[in-house]
Amino acid sequence: MIIIDKISKLREIIAECRLSGKKIGLVPTMGYLHNGHLSLVKKAKEYSDFVCVSIFVNPIQFGENEDFAKYPRDLNRDTELLKETGCDLCFTPSVKEMYPNEILTSVSVDKLTDKLCGAYRPGHFTGVCTIVSKLFNIFTPDIAVFGQKDAQQLAVIKKMVEDLNFPIEIIKAPIIREKDGLAMSSRNIYLNEEERKAAVVLHKSLKEAEKLLLKNEKNPSNIINKVIEVLTTEPLCKIQYVSCVHPYTLEDLNEIKDKALIAIACYIGKTRLIDNLLWGEK
Ligand code: PAJ
Repeated sequence: MIIIDKISKLREIIAECRLSGKKIGLVPTMGYLHNGHLSLVKKAKEYSDFVCVSIFVNPIQFGENEDFAKYPRDLNRDTELLKETGCDLCFTPSVKEMYPNEILTSVSVDKLTDKLCGAYRPGHFTGVCTIVSKLFNIFTPDIAVFGQKDAQQLAVIKKMVEDLNFPIEIIKAPIIREKDGLAMSSRNIYLNEEERKAAVVLHKSLKEAEKLLLKNEKNPSNIINKVIEVLTTEPLCKIQYVSCVHPYTLEDLNEIKDKALIAIACYIGKTRLIDNLLWGEK
């Protein structure tokens, strides 16, 4: 596996790959990799011949009071895991490499970013879209894989790709969970033992929502109320939002027809966790 931290070198390697007719796949990450990330790498291998992973904790997508400084990092472990998973190239740029000068250009997607996490993390998705656009321009991948875990991010990136004509196929990968159901996340490391146990309530609440949907419940309020009821049984859990929206437009649903996304964000102690259930779609 090639490990590089310079954009110029990366461009040379990508140019060679193109000449030899390889299809390029990209998995953007912020590192501290877990099986969720690795499942994206495996997915990228199915759809491309040269799989690239970027590891970059992107400062501009963190709010002032968020965890940029303490975001977990372990590059040695990450590169070992990527080697084992069959990744071809790992790009690990410094902040200076990605943002050498004051950044005066940004990419933002309207409307989709006003709700769900966007409502509580102003500027976050502009930071995400800007770095992902930069990575798309640097790698010029044929395909890029994003996790359903960050359902709003996926919807926003898809819209950005559509609106700005990036010639890239966006591939969705399902949520990978721990044995007890907790969605894997680099931020789970922040949870202490008690909080870790409590965090299972997010998945538990979505399972209850799924039971209602399986019984043909069409009223989003009944789903939302059930999720809130389950979440509030856990004293360590503070709800930020529980929403039932369309998975692409992220508009609140009045009635569940074919597709729905039940998305939740909660604090478990000081750690903010998100999870979701995608209904009516593979
Ligand atoms: P990060 O949180 O590291 O996630 C990288 C990718 O892994 C995202 O597409 C995310 O949805 C996916 N992922 C995380 N946990 C997952 C899980 N349990 N199951 C499946 N996929 C999972 O998302 C980001 O980084 C950044 O915002 C980024 C897109 C890299 C831009 O900086």
